[in-house]
Amino acid sequence: MKLDDLISGVLDSKVGKAVAAKAGLPEATVLRRGEAMPSGAIALGVVEPAGSLVPDALAALGVDAQPALIDTPDSRSTDADGRQRPPAYPGRLGGIVIDATGAHRIEQLEQVRAVLRPAIKALEPSGRVIIVAADPATSADVETAAVRQALDGIMRSVGKELRFGATCNLIQVADGTTPSDLAQVLRFALSGRSAYVDGQPIVLSPSLVELVESKEGLDKLDHPVVEPVETRRDGRIVVVTGAARGIGAAIAHRFGADGARVVCVDVPAAGQALSAVANDVRGTALQLDITVPDAGVRIARHVIDRYGPDARIGALVHCAGILRDKLLANLDEQRWGAVLEVNLAAQLRINDVLLNPEQPGGVADGGRIVAIASTSGWAGNRGQTNYAASKAGVMGMVRALSAQLADRRIAVNGVAPGFIETDMTASIPVIDREIFRRSSSLLQGGRPVDVAEAIVFLADPATPVNGQVLRVCGQLIVGR
Ligand code: NAI
Repeated sequence: MKLDDLISGVLDSKVGKAVAAKAGLPEATVLRRGEAMPSGAIALGVVEPAGSLVPDALAALGVDAQPALIDTPDSRSTDADGRQRPPAYPGRLGGIVIDATGAHRIEQLEQVRAVLRPAIKALEPSGRVIIVAADPATSADVETAAVRQALDGIMRSVGKELRFGATCNLIQVADGTTPSDLAQVLRFALSGRSAYVDGQPIVLSPSLVELVESKEGLDKLDHPVVEPVETRRDGRIVVVTGAARGIGAAIAHRFGADGARVVCVDVPAAGQALSAVANDVRGTALQLDITVPDAGVRIARHVIDRYGPDARIGALVHCAGILRDKLLANLDEQRWGAVLEVNLAAQLRINDVLLNPEQPGGVADGGRIVAIASTSGWAGNRGQTNYAASKAGVMGMVRALSAQLADRRIAVNGVAPGFIETDMTASIPVIDREIFRRSSSLLQGGRPVDVAEAIVFLADPATPVNGQVLRVCGQLIVGR
């Protein structure tokens, strides 16, 4: 048995857990995953004055939210020891949604504290705290912008205080956000699909909202369109690079489970594993090194050959990536170049081809692009200048492309995973790995499926998010 496996085994064993507890290391909770919604009641807390957007979105989801308890000097009780206790919920709460869309004065933040205090104490394992507010960037009023940003600080701190797999996230709505837009994001945030998304703002896109809403915006599209779908079982064509293993394989499986026709792309050397994934998801395999100059054309050709001359890509997921870690003082041009080629340059070349509206087998209007960045791209990482450059570059690509493609209703987003348990991270020394796991608020690494869920969410035509990079990191302490 390898030393790594031995140490992991010890940490996971009964004795190991007892030792870890003695050493002050708290135990990680098994997270609620998949479509499952919280089992306890959902409370709705309100910062007055609030509109109807949040209640309407909850109603659209079929959530019968109960009014949140409010902690005030009058609502407290005194216990046998003479201590003041905040009001208590009768049972476990599945989650609390706080409508802070009307927050614009500092004193209103007290209302957020007042609803959070009783709710946090009652939250079930893997429960949810979700604050809905407006985007600070959209206000010219200084106090309003400050208050909206303050909610981000509250959200991140609450995320760090919650235990037993519970998470806290912030949804920032835009002018024009509809209840169904918000419901789409709330469904993801409340369900187990967002298990490893913690301490994050999810910003709804004004441009995309306006475009989807405006009839004019729809009329001016002349190319094949992927219509927004009520159901995700839409049979659209999804291209996933790096699909032979790890996160890419999980993404292919997740799309396959939704009924998408998945084109699984990976290097010829991974051909056997690639075929196995493609067979499992009833998709097709394309053996291709994405760094070859005609990679984009070969993907387009594969789409037409397999799915017909009018076929177009509904979602393109750039997942293939490599590490070649070295301190910069020891980093040669090969290790530098290989990482920038696979993780960034190849994607840009593929996009150039597949985003040409005249390209048969290219990306359809209304399609989605999701690229994988990394928390190293936010924070930098010792020994990873090349990798961090490539992943920060992916974020730059996402921002620039999303602005360019909004008039074709193509949304471009990124996902920045933290520490995910895959073959790639298995090569990290075991002690470092354990430190990474415990550096997240959820005290554990994520699973490939956690990244896959976020990608499927962002690739859904009904998700009104554009130009964002969503961290799937369990609120890892590194980075933004
Ligand atoms: P992995 O090493 O398990 O899988 C990567 C896949 O990409 C492999 O199947 C590989 O053959 C393929 N690939 C590499 N170069 C290629 C090329 N030139 N052409 C076609 N395919 C190629 O990696 P893992 O962990 O699944 O990571 C997937 C993505 O997620 C990568 O972009 C990685 O940088 C990113 N990521 C992973 C994190 C983690 O903790 N595992 C954290 C942050 C980001």
